[in-house]
Amino acid sequence: MKNNNKETIINLRNLTKNFGDFTAVDNLSLDIKKGEIISLLGPNGAGKTTTMKMIARLLKPTEGEVWIKENGNMRLLNNRNKDALLDRIGFLIENPTFYDHMTPKQILTYFATLKGYPRKKIPKRIEELMALVDLSDWIDKKIGTFSKGMKQRLGLVSSMIHDPDFLVLDEPQTGLDPKGRKEIRAILVDLKNAGKTIFLSSHLLYEVSEISDRIAIINRGKLVAFDTMENLEGQAKDLRLQIQLAELPEDVTQIIIDLETIIRPLTGLNKGDKIVEFNRVTSTFEVKFDGKIQTQKNILKELIRNDIDVMDFSVPRTNTLEDLYIKLVTEVVAVEPLKEASTGVN
Ligand SMILES: Nc1ncnc2c1ncn2[C@@H]1O[C@H](COP(=O)(O)OP(=O)(O)OP(=O)(O)O)[C@@H](O)[C@H]1O
Ligand SMILES: [Mg+2]
Repeated sequence: MKNNNKETIINLRNLTKNFGDFTAVDNLSLDIKKGEIISLLGPNGAGKTTTMKMIARLLKPTEGEVWIKENGNMRLLNNRNKDALLDRIGFLIENPTFYDHMTPKQILTYFATLKGYPRKKIPKRIEELMALVDLSDWIDKKIGTFSKGMKQRLGLVSSMIHDPDFLVLDEPQTGLDPKGRKEIRAILVDLKNAGKTIFLSSHLLYEVSEISDRIAIINRGKLVAFDTMENLEGQAKDLRLQIQLAELPEDVTQIIIDLETIIRPLTGLNKGDKIVEFNRVTSTFEVKFDGKIQTQKNILKELIRNDIDVMDFSVPRTNTLEDLYIKLVTEVVAVEPLKEASTGVN
């Protein structure tokens, strides 16, 4: 996979956070690679903010570790090294409260100074960032006159005033209208194209599906999926083939038996249940398979080789990624995830 060669810059290892006897984040492991947009997707209360707070060391993990790359080496985050390790990261976790009587220039100058950004470069930096979020005309206006969306964009600017390579953004689109949400997406893509790495959270799949390289789905503190969009979409696909024959005899039982015999060795599935079923309403045979294109091809070839007169051969795309997401976050018991997450340090 294309991401496998990229360097890991953050590694969350078996992170757990308990509040009393409630587990908000449960043994969560994932890696973030340079240049990726990774989205942490999950419903309200899933543990997204808690996870991000552990990266920012606003919360100390109950168990597990946060590893961050510094000067080419992965280092374990702790209270002593947190200032140094988190220096190159921009956080937008709780939206900062801005003083209404101040202007973006004043407040951003203050933040930049606090972060040790070279004083001489601050005005230019502010101009650039305000232009990026389309607020150039508002640099010297009082924040009290800003709309919610404008404040949100200003929040984004404040998180990256010191030009960090890596951004951790907790629901940056919250409270925005659809246009504002779309604008934030465009900004995130611009940042990625400028070489930044972005870890963002959302509870809405559509918000992150187009822009994310990988999506980590979290439910009740547990990671239930972590993969590329492409693979998640594959997983969401209906794993049934529909086959329609040119002619149907009165009794389809024999055909079902024939199809079972021909197809079974090719489906990539284990022995067990029936794999061929006949749907009387649509007069189609439905065949369970492993969802792979190659398996589809093999099955079709084999049917033709056996002189089965196929008229239609298709995979219905009834299931969407949205359905998979809903399924994953409504199921209490998680599927085995972490196919990609256990890459360790490199
Ligand atoms: N300081 C705390 N004390 C007790 N429980 C907490 C604390 N912080 C978070 N929780 C609980 O942990 C769970 C996860 O909260 P978290 O804020 O991480 O969820 P989230 O995924 O960010 O949700 P949302 O989409 O609503 O922002 C929730 O049930 C929340 O009530
Ligand atoms: Mg949250």
